[in-house]
Amino acid sequence: MKNISGNPFIKKDNGNIFIDSINFNEIVKKIKTPFLIFLENRIRDNIKTFINVFGSEFKDFQCFYSFKANFLSEICKIVLSEGIGAEIVGLPELKLALKLGFPPNKIIIGGPYLSKELIELSIKNQVKELIIYDINDLKKVNDIAQKFDFIQNICIRINSQKYDSKLGVKFDERKLILFKNAINNYQNIKIKSILSHYSTQMNDVKQFRKNISAIASNLKQLLEHGVIINDINLGGGFPEATVMPQDQLKYIAKEIKNGLEKFEVNYNNIYFEPGRYFIGDAGLFISKVVKVIENRWVFLNIGNNICPKFARCSLRFYNASQINEPHKYKTSIAGIIPTDQDVLAKDYFFTKELNKGDKVLIANTGAYCLTFSNRFPYSLPKIFLINDNGIKQIFDPKIDKDISLN
Ligand SMILES: Cc1ncc(COP(=O)(O)O)c(C=O)c1O
Repeated sequence: MKNISGNPFIKKDNGNIFIDSINFNEIVKKIKTPFLIFLENRIRDNIKTFINVFGSEFKDFQCFYSFKANFLSEICKIVLSEGIGAEIVGLPELKLALKLGFPPNKIIIGGPYLSKELIELSIKNQVKELIIYDINDLKKVNDIAQKFDFIQNICIRINSQKYDSKLGVKFDERKLILFKNAINNYQNIKIKSILSHYSTQMNDVKQFRKNISAIASNLKQLLEHGVIINDINLGGGFPEATVMPQDQLKYIAKEIKNGLEKFEVNYNNIYFEPGRYFIGDAGLFISKVVKVIENRWVFLNIGNNICPKFARCSLRFYNASQINEPHKYKTSIAGIIPTDQDVLAKDYFFTKELNKGDKVLIANTGAYCLTFSNRFPYSLPKIFLINDNGIKQIFDPKIDKDISLN
């Protein structure tokens, strides 16, 4: 059997496609397109690979799954069962993580806006760390922590200096003094770690090096002002596991370790916050060609409403109805939204014959598609999970109405 999209959990054999152990034809006989499938075994596989690779380079290393990549309960439960922590950006995510049973000492929370309710719930539950993007937020956290007679551990997110990134603290002399004063004056916070997240879909080792350089120069500046931080957090940004095979991930892990040594970064614990790497290639859309027009344009019954460009997925398209045919003819693929802007791919290598009704499998749609989806007035897709027990529905738009966290 040959892998499809480099994914060992999507295979083809004699014109048949197997999604894990289930025959694709059996699935499409029963379920109307468009729908989304998640592969539990692939998620577990990706997590194990990540843990093994980084665990062999770093002895004190921890992972916090970036919930925003995909916050479906069933997906987060799988991540939890693999012993991974949670990286949370807001109140609904925090409530979900607590409900699912993520241990508070494995939850880190932060974002550009920390509401009073979010800080309170975090402190009440004694979460591992609150991540601060703005020095002014330290007072807010300290005041609330004081009310609860608690000392809250803090991670400081620094600006990774990527282009004109606006996220995180850009230390200058004034901010360094403000920071130092806050540490000295606020008794209910303790600075534990420093975070720099550089970008998403980082394919090039240079991007990881730049991130380390940002951490190193900030730690140096802080040290010059008498501030010592022992734990470092390098964020996420790894591509889908099919896009970054294990050998490449090993190389990146080694280079991260080398980079930290080269820049003389001293640390006790090292943290990562992967999102896409865990679940990106564990999700696939099944859609259908609804129209074929001149110049080899096909229209699908999904588009940027649910498979958005913002998600930055490494989309791969397969004509599942003609899987044995060569995919080598340039074809452009339009989505369902009535605007010429809804283009899923231009000049993509696809089958020679283009037929209305052909089923199209779109790989690598597990991360950020739901997050960045919009409310263009089409029904949300049904969502299924495939595991060793077969296939089960985990989201029904008729009953669940909405994939948001409320
Ligand atoms: C601070 C932080 N950590 C982790 C992530 C997860 O990134 P990825 O899914 O690319 O691994 C993001 C994504 O934007 C982020 O902003």
